[in-house]
Amino acid sequence: MKNDNLQSIVNKIYFNEAEQYESQHGHGISDIESLTWQSDILSLAQFNGVQEILDVGAGTGLLTRLLAHFGYSVTGLDPSDDMLKQAIKNTSIEKYGESIKFVLGDTHQSDIFQASSFDCVVSRQVVCHFYDPMVVFGNWYTWLKDNGVVVITDGLWFREGWSNDELVDSLPLSCLQTRATVSYLLEKSGFRIIKNTLLNKVNEHLIATGKSKSLRYVVVALKDKVG
Ligand SMILES: C[S@@+](CC[C@H](N)C(=O)[O-])C[C@H]1O[C@@H](n2cnc3c(N)ncnc32)[C@H](O)[C@@H]1O
Repeated sequence: MKNDNLQSIVNKIYFNEAEQYESQHGHGISDIESLTWQSDILSLAQFNGVQEILDVGAGTGLLTRLLAHFGYSVTGLDPSDDMLKQAIKNTSIEKYGESIKFVLGDTHQSDIFQASSFDCVVSRQVVCHFYDPMVVFGNWYTWLKDNGVVVITDGLWFREGWSNDELVDSLPLSCLQTRATVSYLLEKSGFRIIKNTLLNKVNEHLIATGKSKSLRYVVVALKDKVG
């Protein structure tokens, strides 16, 4: 199947989903996950110098708002008009001011941002949707400044969780049962892996509350300054 077709099938998943998205099983960010971002993930990511963050696949803006709440400037990118409209609805100007902006676009397209635009790229529960992860990771490498950091969280999703078999057999990261693949592809794209680990507290909570059986993990990678 052609890549444009694949992306339009992915976009259809999120069409008409936006309003109820955050209350669906496994999608919302629990208090435990918020704390994990604050106390574990951001310190793993050596966030000291970080100001400008790109949230790829921002969806309804859950992570975008959380990071803005922690004081960062965040750009949320998403190809779904529907999800972004909901993200804008969810983001009160009084609360977040100028610290959040949203951009409609597909992260496979290299010309959305200029080189060296961001200190950090984050992406939560999105990499499983990419039809060409190497193109995406190459774009992120370009969009990041030297010493910039990538933070990916995703799940070890099961095949049965997808409603479209063709999609599963076309998207390379759709239902991995290993944390190795994302790290491997990031390394092949020029990044140095800092951390690749399961999010234990988040997983315990998801399993105890029956919200999801797919284990969540985080990969943190650095774009080292060359020379
Ligand atoms: C499961 S949702 C995650 C949303 C958000 N990151 C969160 O944690 O709630 C996946 C999101 O990835 C977006 N997405 C899918 N393909 C994408 C692409 N090629 N570029 C950027 N975002 C994409 C979808 O439109 C959707 O909003």
